[in-house]
Amino acid sequence: KKATFVDYTLRSADTVKKAIDKVVDVRIEQDIIHLSSYKTRHYKSETGVQSQQWLFDKWSDLSKHRSDVEIKFFDHKNYPQPSVMFVLKGASSEAIVVGGHGDSIAGWFSKTAPGADDNASGIATITEIINVLMETNFKPEKTIYFISYAAEEVGLLGSKEIAKDFKSKGIDVLGVLQLDMTNFKGSDDYDIVMMTDYTNEAQNTFIGSLIDEYLPTLKWGYDKCGYGCSDHASWHGEGFPASVPFEAKKRNMNRDIHSSRDTISRSNGNATHAAKFAKLGLAYVIELDR
Ligand code: BES
Ligand code: ZN
Repeated sequence: KKATFVDYTLRSADTVKKAIDKVVDVRIEQDIIHLSSYKTRHYKSETGVQSQQWLFDKWSDLSKHRSDVEIKFFDHKNYPQPSVMFVLKGASSEAIVVGGHGDSIAGWFSKTAPGADDNASGIATITEIINVLMETNFKPEKTIYFISYAAEEVGLLGSKEIAKDFKSKGIDVLGVLQLDMTNFKGSDDYDIVMMTDYTNEAQNTFIGSLIDEYLPTLKWGYDKCGYGCSDHASWHGEGFPASVPFEAKKRNMNRDIHSSRDTISRSNGNATHAAKFAKLGLAYVIELDR
């Protein structure tokens, strides 16, 4: 099957600017605080199921007035934690995917793992993107999927199954944006860092152009994970264009992830850094939709 040509020209400036102005960092902050209040979101834990149920309910509430939205669990047969999907349906079945992992980890499944940065921040950022799209009554042409993946921390298990499922159904995925760790500003000289490995170069260039156009005060650059460090690698592996805008250069990364110290206090108790990624995600969805 030939790859679909993706048009990366910017043509929805008015819609993007109005959406970006509606991002509220305090809503992201509150969702990070809630998600990191579960003892753990480990993929085998009861609280890891409950946190995904809470997100299902939250996303349902945000879209309760919309008949073109469906919220679904994607169940996984080998573990109890489901993935959660928010599907915003357009006339076209072409897909745009914005995702992040809903699980957390700190060693064994019963250990305290708040995962505020890794990755309550990404899930709260995605929730704010949804919030603004609902507030602005955005009606897409394509079908937009927002996904909280299960079981990333143990080998990208949830996203691998989902990417395979999209592939086997022949869904034409135009682009995948991965949000994993958005709220720790580790680098003084960078706001957003795009990982070049297991990602699509043309889409990375497009995302850079979105920052230059809509968030011109932000500094951005490139780095490498060095391995398939998050769920974008699952989509990349199935041949879909994926990108992962990250919170810092790898050498300045948050050293407290995967421990009981990964709390929002490590990010000054606010979500001003994550708000930049919500704005970028809005620009990404709105511009890719046309
Ligand atoms: N959020 C991390 C990935 C990450 C860490 C990205 C540092 C960039 C810099 C992710 O949740 C994670 O921990 N991934 C695992 C690998 C995965 C295949 C289990 C990791 O990095 O060890
Ligand atoms: Zn992570």
